[in-house]
Amino acid sequence: MHTLDWTVMTEQDIERTAIRARMVGGLTAANVGEELTLAGWVHRRRDLGGLLFVDLRDRSGLLQVSFGPDWTSEEGLLLARELGPEDVVAVSGMVALRPDPNPQMPTGAVELRAGSVERLSVARTPAIPVYRGPEDELPSEDLRLRHRVLDLRRPELQRALGLRHRVVLAARNYLDGLGFMEIETPILTRPTPEGARDYLVPSRVHKGEFYALPQSPQIYKQILMVSGYDRYFQIARCFRDEDLRADRQPEFTQIDVEASFVGVDDVLRWIEGLVVAICDVVGMHVELPLPSLSWADAMERYGTDRPDLRFGLPIEDWSSVVLETEFRVLRGPVEVGGRARGIRLPGGARLSRKDIEAIEEEAKAAGAPGLAWVKLGDEGASGPLGKHLSEAHLAEMGMKAGDLALVAAGPDRVTSPALSATRMAAAAALGTPRERDHAWLWVTGFPVFEETDGGGLVPGHHPFVMPHPEDIDLLESDPARTRGLAYDLVYNGTELGSGSIRIHRPDLQRTVLRMLGLSDVDIDRKFGFLLEALSAGAPPHGGIALGVDRIAQRFVGAGSIRDVIAFPKTTAARALFEGAPSPLGDEELTELGLRLVTRAPTP
Ligand code: AMO
Repeated sequence: MHTLDWTVMTEQDIERTAIRARMVGGLTAANVGEELTLAGWVHRRRDLGGLLFVDLRDRSGLLQVSFGPDWTSEEGLLLARELGPEDVVAVSGMVALRPDPNPQMPTGAVELRAGSVERLSVARTPAIPVYRGPEDELPSEDLRLRHRVLDLRRPELQRALGLRHRVVLAARNYLDGLGFMEIETPILTRPTPEGARDYLVPSRVHKGEFYALPQSPQIYKQILMVSGYDRYFQIARCFRDEDLRADRQPEFTQIDVEASFVGVDDVLRWIEGLVVAICDVVGMHVELPLPSLSWADAMERYGTDRPDLRFGLPIEDWSSVVLETEFRVLRGPVEVGGRARGIRLPGGARLSRKDIEAIEEEAKAAGAPGLAWVKLGDEGASGPLGKHLSEAHLAEMGMKAGDLALVAAGPDRVTSPALSATRMAAAAALGTPRERDHAWLWVTGFPVFEETDGGGLVPGHHPFVMPHPEDIDLLESDPARTRGLAYDLVYNGTELGSGSIRIHRPDLQRTVLRMLGLSDVDIDRKFGFLLEALSAGAPPHGGIALGVDRIAQRFVGAGSIRDVIAFPKTTAARALFEGAPSPLGDEELTELGLRLVTRAPTP
């Protein structure tokens, strides 16, 4: 992927302000002889006795500033000796060619020979270094988050936030160009169901009552459609109290989109254009239309609704083979209605027993009791399943010399996630070559409902998804098999976006809410305002939301979503720099009409 060229200067970067002539980046031999005042942070200082060098840093990059008795004033030399890392200085002098050019540095051909220097701010000894030598490791993440003010000075973070800005800007411009209007929706609101817990805000004025922070603007954007706004978007902040993972934050940002009088294809086409626009920011080429896979096929072939299609290795159904063997471990589950499915890994026979055990651990962590395997080597088939298979069986499985097959048996709801984990772990262990670097994919036709272990129904996504017209008769007879007009945007195995055509008929919306086990009283209490809106003459409508943080994370290639957020929360949902959440004193609690059952331990 193309990385942003940080040395490309914009007009603003070379604009004179009250304190400096320009930013430091972009200075080249062409600037030699210019008298400039530059300002920034002391990145690093080297004192060579007679001469003294400071790497001056601003957002645009680094520049060497040299201090020497022949060109620096006496006070200047004295002050330069005192400068500490991260002090803020303004230096005035002349751009000159460096006697020792540094080709590693974009400005490495030149330096500023400082005539004078002024210290604008004194920095305390930094708790974490901003300058890092090539061998220096990053401090721990907790330490960096605790000292985020310094951490944010790292060029990697500055680049990530710059890229994020450009992605959002590209999205805004693209959607504006299509006639979408940006409208803000409330942050203090009622609960919106997106499957997580709500963050709640007590009302001081109405004691005992609470606002919920929006899990998404879902209901509001639907109401805007009913009110005739036709094409809406918002760069929307969402809040969800859920267990955090590497790609989740309790507050995150969506590119939230909704439009009226549309079908699935309209939304997909527009969003494909949006994908092209944001990929352009990083120079990523995207071929349109994006491939599309039904939810059922995705689950069948890859065991997940967000398959990583940079490589193949599909799941195959080997139940009929297994039923012909005496291998009870696999045959038993198939006899009671499950299936034996697995993955054939070309060249996988070279994996050691230890490698296979490590893959099996991943499958177990994803819920499988275990994995059976067979290797086809020069001496025939081996492995726990090997001795049970005839040549005809092996041929039926498509096994070729050097292949390994990994098999799990049981109900699909157990084997699918396990085989998805197996597929990823096996590809990593084998170093399976990628067929492509960027695998964009639509997954369509998600089920409207999911069945719970107790036999109840929960929304497959949220409760506003329009059932597929072909499945509308199944809605009440076989709800779990009802497909919805819902789609996800997947990139390299990550869900980047999710949306649907919505239910616009109040009666159908009420039916679906009832099927989710809500009483009419609850429906009116929780969703009365939506139903009221839908009764006011609702156009058919649909939309999608894309996760900005996840997109930026993928584009930057960051290991964590926290690396593309200026002030992220830890996985324990804490903000370490500003110290949130924080306890309230008795007086504040009383004012809010609250009394604590459990007190936070005093830190
Ligand atoms: P959904 O809940 O799937 O859909 O969210 C849409 C996209 O938002 C991103 N996302 C997150 N990013 C970071 N941290 C999180 N905790 C987090 N949760 C979600 C993902 C996801 O694909 N209202 C619907 C959209 C719609 O139907 O229009 C919604 O919010 O990239």
